Amino acid sequence: EKGYKNVEVFSKEHLAVSLAYDVAQLSNKFIKERGYFTVALSGGSLIKYLRKLVESPYAETIDWSKWHVFWVDERVVPKDHLESNYKLASDGFLSKVPIPPLNVYAIDDSLPPDGAADVYETTLRRLVTSNVISTSTNGLPKFDLMLLGMGPDGHVASLFPGHALLQEDQKWVTFLTDSPKPPSERITFTFPVINASSNVAMVVTGAGKSTAVYTALEDEKQTVMLPVEKVSPLEGELKWYLDKGAASKLFKE
Ligand code: 6PG
Repeated sequence: EKGYKNVEVFSKEHLAVSLAYDVAQLSNKFIKERGYFTVALSGGSLIKYLRKLVESPYAETIDWSKWHVFWVDERVVPKDHLESNYKLASDGFLSKVPIPPLNVYAIDDSLPPDGAADVYETTLRRLVTSNVISTSTNGLPKFDLMLLGMGPDGHVASLFPGHALLQEDQKWVTFLTDSPKPPSERITFTFPVINASSNVAMVVTGAGKSTAVYTALEDEKQTVMLPVEKVSPLEGELKWYLDKGAASKLFKE
């Protein structure tokens, strides 16, 4: 018997509402406990599911001045480029809420990408030391909330099927030049950092993802593990937010 306690299926509208409700709850809980709320954002369709969070009644319950925002992954393009995850989040989310600009940690687009990855990791280390970001038992940055999407191939962040970076266990932030999803150059958090999170929200929509969702959650005969299946917070919670399309191959048995 499969445990589905961390999987919820919504209409597209209710998915955004439920996500807003949960994020607002987490924000209030962490701000009360530790005075900050640290959130790492992915790119892709995720950002549009934050649209209810910036609206009433959720937006005004949140103390945005205590938010600290990071990127799970970034495409190696200028920050104002259409493919930039910073731009996507900026236009669709950050521009609508009063988060102090100094609390928004974009990945530096003026450096060579390997250097930008190292500088980002250094920034995380500094914020772990100053306790803005919590620390996991094994000394990794423990984000209060990590928001992930999943590609139809089962990738999360910029960690793709069969890629050597799936095994990276030293670096927190790394650079790749061979992403199968364009653009090919990307900077990404590694699995140790993803799995150090307090909360991971996996937001997956559309029938095009239903096979990967089925493989990850139900298929017992699969031979190769998808990247998404490596998401398993060691000291935290994972919750899946699916729409009906993404969930269409589940619950058949
Ligand atoms: C990126 C993302 C990536 C994304 C998935 C799902 O920069 O491409 O961070 O990990 O979340 O590819 O994207 P969609 O939700 O748009 O399918």
